[in-house]
Amino acid sequence: MTSKEQTYETVYKEIESVIDGETNETSVLANVAALLHERFAERFFWTGFYLVCDGELQLGPFQGPVACMHIQKGRGVCGTAWAEEKSIIVPDVEAFPGHIACSAHSRSEIVVPLFNSNKEVVGEIDIDSKYLNAFDEVDRLYLEKIAQLLTRTLYRTE
Ligand code: SME
Repeated sequence: MTSKEQTYETVYKEIESVIDGETNETSVLANVAALLHERFAERFFWTGFYLVCDGELQLGPFQGPVACMHIQKGRGVCGTAWAEEKSIIVPDVEAFPGHIACSAHSRSEIVVPLFNSNKEVVGEIDIDSKYLNAFDEVDRLYLEKIAQLLTRTLYRTE
């Protein structure tokens, strides 16, 4: 196992323990953003959530610099991941058509949708790095696992 996988294994267990029994969306997402941001402090420059609200993505709990507060479906990396209902890894944000630049320091990005248990997108995990090509399939795998944990914790529809 690589050190990145080991860190994700540790973070996953920390998240499970911190959010166990919690039901407040803001509190849970704020601590998940904090844990991820702190454990990957070297690589993660902006770590947070966008949530579907009033037909658009609105800024949720995050760690990092001020970010844009409204993103329309199909716009930027976040809006595209929502429209396509799948995770997107962007190795070089300048090469992604329509990328929304919240900070000039962001060079690469990963966006992972959050689904409710009816498989509807309710939000997203969004992470930016100052480094080009900072995210790979290991990030996708573990962030999707964390997203599934959030579905079970916060977004059950039954
Ligand atoms: N870059 C994103 C916007 C959000 S910020 O990265 C925090 C996008 O293109 O959707």
